[in-house]
Amino acid sequence: MSDHEHRLRQLIDRMTASGSVRSQPWKDAAAAVPRHEFLRNGFFRPVPGTSPTAWTPVCQGEEGWLEVCYADESLVTQIAGTIKPTDIRGEIMREPTSSSTLPSLVLRMLEDLQVQPGMKVLEIGTGTGYSTAVLCARLGDSNVTSIEYDEEVASQARQTLGRLGMYPTLLTGDGLHGAPQGGPYDRIIATCAVRTVPTAWLQQTRPGGQILTTIGGWLNASELVRLTVHEDGTASGPVLGGQVSFMLARPHQTPPLGVLPDLGRGKQREAALGADILDDWATRFIAQFAVPTAQRLTVHNGQHNDDVLIDTTTGSFAALHQENDRWIVRQGGPDRLWDAVEDHLSRWHAAGTPTLKEATIRVTPAGQNISR
Ligand SMILES: C[S@@+](CC[C@H](N)C(=O)[O-])C[C@H]1O[C@@H](n2cnc3c(N)ncnc32)[C@H](O)[C@@H]1O
Repeated sequence: MSDHEHRLRQLIDRMTASGSVRSQPWKDAAAAVPRHEFLRNGFFRPVPGTSPTAWTPVCQGEEGWLEVCYADESLVTQIAGTIKPTDIRGEIMREPTSSSTLPSLVLRMLEDLQVQPGMKVLEIGTGTGYSTAVLCARLGDSNVTSIEYDEEVASQARQTLGRLGMYPTLLTGDGLHGAPQGGPYDRIIATCAVRTVPTAWLQQTRPGGQILTTIGGWLNASELVRLTVHEDGTASGPVLGGQVSFMLARPHQTPPLGVLPDLGRGKQREAALGADILDDWATRFIAQFAVPTAQRLTVHNGQHNDDVLIDTTTGSFAALHQENDRWIVRQGGPDRLWDAVEDHLSRWHAAGTPTLKEATIRVTPAGQNISR
């Protein structure tokens, strides 16, 4: 057995022991896909102790390359929309824009997708093509369509998949519009997160079919959800849990803050809930549904730190600070952001503060919400 075959077998054993791989067909599919083939252009590793994170390239043939390909880790393959590992030496401090997802999450999601042989699947976010290859190994190339936003990433994935003799339908474009030419699909799976589930996905999934996606947002909390599409074109389903986090779909990424409004203006009142509730992941995830276009930042105003929610599209803001044991909120702009958060969370608490696993997401063409 070659070195990589040995490492692949060990990885599959670990994923089986941890419960990410739960069935023989997915185990066989994972065993048919050598992950290092998708990482021949190298990857970036985080430099320990840096904040914001600095990244350093590891190229094929360098010490540790093969070992890390078979470690159960997400490996960044593109930074700032253009930079590949072979493009730089040293360190770079910009946002990752493409990666090979950690295999245990890929396999967990494929198990969660509840596919049967013969089903047609659309994948959003081809990336390196690793997850596309596992789908092809299980369902056959003709049942798999995958779409990637970035032309260079897509072309690299096409070459790698071709080298392995896999020829699914590969498209380049904005997967938020789906891929209508190949639909309807039995399943849509997204390996990038979305702020709102696109209507195109509802329209391109067969009634009774499922959409597996991570819903994320600008308050930086995200969860994996599995939605069943109904005859009336709406969808609903559970939060699967586990704080699953993916890079946001490119058109959904956080916009620049621009010029801050005057946070000293606005109407002030005592807050029923303090800004520190947003330090909790689940609470932030729920609050995101109330203020979907708000971002959070801290501003020092000379006397104290303001914990600020700001909506760059409307200029609305809520600035919170603590005075003794009270929280004070000052709100300006057309929308009262903190009123919306308090209202939403108080209804959540009135429903008995369900855990996320007890929650249901409902999506219609008009919007999405979370409730018990
Ligand atoms: C986490 S990576 C995908 C991992 C990949 N499935 C794998 O296993 O290698 C997310 C990918 O989604 C792509 N992406 C982001 N927004 C997209 C969009 N709107 N449509 C299609 N792909 C998108 C990114 O360019 C990136 O390559």
